[in-house]
Amino acid sequence: MEKLKIAGGYPLKGTVRISGAKNSAVALIPAAILADSPVSIEGLPDISDVQILKGLLEEIGGTVEFSNHEMTVDPSSMISMPLPNGKVKKLRASYYLMGAMLGRFKKAVIGLPGGCHLGPRPIDQHIKGFEALGASVTNEQGAIYLRADELRGARIYLDVVSVGATINIMLAAVRAKGRTIIENAAKEPEIIDVATLLTNMGANIKGAGTDVIRIEGVDELHGCRHTIIPDRIEAGTYLILGAAVGEGILIDNVIPQHLESLIAKLREMGVPIEAGDDQVFVGPAGKFKPVDVKTLVYPGFPTDLQQPFTSLLTRAEGSSVVTDTIYGARFKHIDELRRMNANIKVEGRSAIINGSVQLQGAKVKASDLRAGAALIIAGLIAEGITEVTGLEHIDRGYSHLVEKLNGLGATVWREELTGEELEQLKNA
Ligand code: EPU
Repeated sequence: MEKLKIAGGYPLKGTVRISGAKNSAVALIPAAILADSPVSIEGLPDISDVQILKGLLEEIGGTVEFSNHEMTVDPSSMISMPLPNGKVKKLRASYYLMGAMLGRFKKAVIGLPGGCHLGPRPIDQHIKGFEALGASVTNEQGAIYLRADELRGARIYLDVVSVGATINIMLAAVRAKGRTIIENAAKEPEIIDVATLLTNMGANIKGAGTDVIRIEGVDELHGCRHTIIPDRIEAGTYLILGAAVGEGILIDNVIPQHLESLIAKLREMGVPIEAGDDQVFVGPAGKFKPVDVKTLVYPGFPTDLQQPFTSLLTRAEGSSVVTDTIYGARFKHIDELRRMNANIKVEGRSAIINGSVQLQGAKVKASDLRAGAALIIAGLIAEGITEVTGLEHIDRGYSHLVEKLNGLGATVWREELTGEELEQLKNA
């Protein structure tokens, strides 16, 4: 097991190229199950979630090749093998195997998903959707059993706007009989990306990216080639990092429209930003004004950037309030930031950050993926050396992190944990 060491306090400069979107990748790969011939996905990020999904598709009999960011999945010999344990527990997005396998085989057994611990993360809306399409869904000893004689299109109103439920219902509905209408659907760019892949496979989907999605079921889907969208959360992380410690950073391979809420907040703080067609330049800021941020569903401020943004706000001249309306308990990074001298209070769903403190290097632990990003940004701001453990979370979502940071002039490296440090982590 390794830790990340960061020599903080130095300005960064240069260009960073953004990888393919993690939250698209984890849905696009299971979507390939629905085809009857090979599906190729280009531009995938090198992250552990992608490797785990590759292994899961192989477990159910798929032939999967993955090199140079391109994955080709031949789903023709897949079977509806139960996946109650093992790799499915390692990532949240294994829930997409439910929709995809139900759509193709009309049955699936999938263990309850793992992933980041951000407080309660129910999947009741996914299940509501599957049941509306005619499946019986039961939870037996920690695994979800889905069975249907046939799937029939239905009108489904989501009680909570959910990215996962919207995509999962699309996956199950594309091969159902008749029309499905998903109302109060989520509108995230990743949903459009998945709908684009499915459409290229022969599905009939209208309205992805709006809150009403209409799907006419088809009997079969075929292989195709698809290029994934850039990761707006990775791009946002580098934008925040550029604001915090940059002396001019160009973020390359982005869709600036996907980052409007973040760019608006950064400008409000006084950060100079220029957006081009597929690049965003973040210039050096003098002083930062404090701002209040509330996370919302897309196109609002993304919950996934709330934690990294908190680290930036420790540099603002005054008090800022960050409120997470999506995950009210996504504040595990705050205790760690406090170890680094941050002055932050948590009250309910809000963190109150008193800025203008100098962060100091410390030994900290990433409890989840975006907490990890927050601690890395804090480590780059801080004076001295910061050591971050919990890298398994960060490796789930940030492709070539050390290379990208060092490419911007940072001094960041991985080191094996000592026996004593491993013991301390186990007992923590
Ligand atoms: N919710 C329900 N019932 C459901 C589903 C969701 O109550 O059946 C609630 C959740 O508890 C949450 C809200 O609805 O309060 C939104 O959850 P959503 O389903 O949209 O989240 P998700 O699909 O599980 C994806 C991303 C997350 C990201 C959220 C919100 C993937 C694999 N994960 O999760 O990404 O935070 O949308 O945008 O796409 C991350 O990248 O670090 C990450 C956690």
